[in-house]
Amino acid sequence: MQDAIERTKEYVRRNMEEYKDATHDWFHIERVWNTAKLIAKEEGADLFVVEMATLLHDIDDFKFNSHETAVKSAAWLQSLGVDSGTAEKIIHIVENISFKGSAEQNKIQTLEGKVVQDADRLDAIGAFGIARAFTYAGYKNIPIFNPSVEARENMSFEQYKRTEGSAINHFHEKLLLLKDRMNTKTGRLMAEERHNFMESYLRQFFKEAKGES
Ligand code: NI
Repeated sequence: MQDAIERTKEYVRRNMEEYKDATHDWFHIERVWNTAKLIAKEEGADLFVVEMATLLHDIDDFKFNSHETAVKSAAWLQSLGVDSGTAEKIIHIVENISFKGSAEQNKIQTLEGKVVQDADRLDAIGAFGIARAFTYAGYKNIPIFNPSVEARENMSFEQYKRTEGSAINHFHEKLLLLKDRMNTKTGRLMAEERHNFMESYLRQFFKEAKGES
């Protein structure tokens, strides 16, 4: 078990290096992994499933791949000899974890999936969330703030995939919504502080945007 986790860690690290995306690098996986372990212990979730799904959660992401299913994860789990029942639980999480727009329904149902999703969402909010939002905008050449573009509400997956607007709109289109979408009690508690930090950041941001303060 421990060996499978260690080998997966190295496999994922190599994969994430290839994607060359500072918002989804190995250190993102490592942070989410640490948070997921913490939540899993509090919530009594199966640690092996949580750890493996967390490590693999971004290697099949739609942002880096043309395939929509978790083909890399499935092949990897098979090569490790993970039994099919456990592998299925892990793959279900990897395939359904991503936020795909505020109007899309969340397909995560297992406790382990809820834990991994909460941990991933926690890294999208708070101080790291802010840093990642602007880093992503820079990478896509999206403006920091465009006063004439309003945030889009109730987005479908198709709309969500089109990266328009501004980095600040991304707070309203996704980041500020995540607190109320936490699945577990532990995740909700952790989200609160990070959410409040983003709100106070935005208050200052909009003051400065108007030339005040
Ligand atoms: Ni992630």
